[in-house]
Amino acid sequence: MPIIVGPEIETYLYQILPSRDPVLSHMEDQARKRGIPIVGPTVGRFLHFLALLHKPKKIYEMGSAIGYSTIWWAKAAGPDGEVHYTDGNPDNEKEAKQYFKQAGVEKIVKTHVGNALQIIDELPGEFDLIFCDIDKNGYPEAFHKAYPRLKKGGLLVADNVLWSGTVALPSKAPVDTHGGRKWVEAVKEFNRLIYETPGLFTTIIPLRDGVSVSLKLK
Ligand SMILES: C[S@@+](CC[C@H](N)C(=O)[O-])C[C@H]1O[C@@H](n2cnc3c(N)ncnc32)[C@H](O)[C@@H]1O
Repeated sequence: MPIIVGPEIETYLYQILPSRDPVLSHMEDQARKRGIPIVGPTVGRFLHFLALLHKPKKIYEMGSAIGYSTIWWAKAAGPDGEVHYTDGNPDNEKEAKQYFKQAGVEKIVKTHVGNALQIIDELPGEFDLIFCDIDKNGYPEAFHKAYPRLKKGGLLVADNVLWSGTVALPSKAPVDTHGGRKWVEAVKEFNRLIYETPGLFTTIIPLRDGVSVSLKLK
């Protein structure tokens, strides 16, 4: 678990969380035991909160693993929502589908196995919200794919934009996070794009591993 804020604050934030849907708690246990990199409950609540505020109906998720963040989105989108799950691993999709049934969101989640950066080209129309949580070397391309597909007033949300704090290291410093320097540079490029693209208004929340939220203004 990457820690961006101090460990005492991080622990406190987890300790005071209200209990969750048993399906989500079960998935958190599985993720802990099997080392599955899910957003976890503090970020999950934040995603759900964003969706309650923004009321997106059509959501595209890039990188869904066993569907934990998908369920937080789906429960906020409601019965007339449409949440697109994507993951490159068919075993993840199989497991996720069971959880979607248990969580009662199987009718609104559409699953796709393959590269999220290509699947988006096969789906019609614009999205109200796009969430990026794929391998970090894909973040700049994810930005270029997502931005034109977001409707005006839509949200682009991304996890891990502080990448265990490595984004703040000097540019030649060695990094021991997964993906090495290449992934760090990709995340930094993504952050540059979301802040410098004129049609977006972005903020980065230093929650867990950093979550960015960008509103498409025009
Ligand atoms: C960090 S996990 C996603 C966790 C999920 N968002 C959650 O919080 O519950 C990243 C997942 O993205 C998948 N992945 C990575 N790159 C991908 C790509 N380009 N297209 C589709 N899936 C990808 C991996 O298989 C992995 O399961």
